[in-house]
Amino acid sequence: MNANEFSIDRRGLIVSGAAATLAAALPASALGASARRFPAGFRWGASTAGHQIEGNNTNSDLWLVENLSPTIYKERSGDTCDSYHRWRQDIALLKAIGLNSYRMSIEWARIEPSPGQFSIAEIDHYKRVIGDLRAAGIEPVITFFHVAAPRWFAERGGWLNPESPDLFANYCDKAARALGDGIGIACTINEPQVGLTFRAIPMAAAYFKAQDERAKAIMAEAARRSGSERFVTMDYPDIVGMTPQLMAAHEKGFAAIKAALPKVPTGVTLNLVDFAKANEGSRTEDLQKLAYGGWMEVVKRSGDFVGVQTYTQMLIPGAGAKLPPPPPLPDPEPSDPRDSGKQPVALRNTVEYAYRQTGKPVFVTENGFQTDNDARRAWYIPRVLAELHKAIEGGVPVMGYMHWSLIDNFEWLQGYGPKFGLASVDRTTFKRTLKPSAAVYRQIVRANAV
Ligand code: BGC
Repeated sequence: MNANEFSIDRRGLIVSGAAATLAAALPASALGASARRFPAGFRWGASTAGHQIEGNNTNSDLWLVENLSPTIYKERSGDTCDSYHRWRQDIALLKAIGLNSYRMSIEWARIEPSPGQFSIAEIDHYKRVIGDLRAAGIEPVITFFHVAAPRWFAERGGWLNPESPDLFANYCDKAARALGDGIGIACTINEPQVGLTFRAIPMAAAYFKAQDERAKAIMAEAARRSGSERFVTMDYPDIVGMTPQLMAAHEKGFAAIKAALPKVPTGVTLNLVDFAKANEGSRTEDLQKLAYGGWMEVVKRSGDFVGVQTYTQMLIPGAGAKLPPPPPLPDPEPSDPRDSGKQPVALRNTVEYAYRQTGKPVFVTENGFQTDNDARRAWYIPRVLAELHKAIEGGVPVMGYMHWSLIDNFEWLQGYGPKFGLASVDRTTFKRTLKPSAAVYRQIVRANAV
């Protein structure tokens, strides 16, 4: 790979070795006298999303798109981890790690299978999950929309439909009232700006041009199959057109959830890439403004917190300037250059940025490390938490940290290839097995210190 090469997908981005290197210092003794303590009551958790782990979300828009041929999805979600039936096994994993919080999503496509028809049975299902979490002493952090929508919603134009904010707010109202304050924390929409953010990166333009062409053809085919005028999922290539509705949907959803559950902290979760200066001419502020600006204003108006989800640091060169050669890797291991965008400091930078921009408490609703080599995840966890601790020490109110992900799961367009889990899942028996990195995380959680 040369300096400007990178691979990118809808959910993430991997910068080449030349663009960045892994952070240097090993955190000092985690649990000795010098241990960095987290605030009392800090939320330690893991994160998942319904469509990625439940299985058979057959009434969702993505189910149709995944099952087209050709499709933009490498694989179909299918049974995924069967968490729809095996949530107790997931709770057992959370308990084994000693976590006090769990971020999961409820699936709109199940709860409102056709417009205005709300399923009591599906609400009861999620009530049981929430009840079991509570009984295990785990606070449920509930996302109302995590990428997948009901198929009928996509057939009505998805987030391009001017009525979409009201449709979403109505679902939020019904679901929040039915689920009640078993919900500990609510997240309205997961990463509504991720498409905008990645399209703001100049080096990603060619990738998205090709990707958007493919998505356009697939959406046309989905519309034809469903007999609708258009079929608009989150993969639809007009994220600019969708953004005003997504913003209004968050604001109206926020208001609906707060009206139903005034005590439940509620916010939106944003995918923040740490745009870092590669050299003096670099104008990262402009890029941040383009990528996040509008959403920071929305959070200021409507949000008890800002959800931060960070996976990547990206060095941005100034105009015409070449990226500097990569400094040698500080640690002999892990040394896979493809992971070099995964600087632990990236999370600290984005957490500080989100707080500076919004003045709201920050909740790390996702952060993780994609790798087949769990030793690399075990390497990453203490380092990223040491960086997060620096942000807290510097005065940022951080509500908690949700590691993505509890279990290996369906990674959207990339299918089951990329692994983020603290536990693996056997694809035929659904057996969950904790990985060694979970033990590293558990030690930190137990001590409330790194
Ligand atoms: C998304 C998750 C996804 C993760 C890793 C985040 O952007 O919210 O659904 O699996 O990144 O790619």
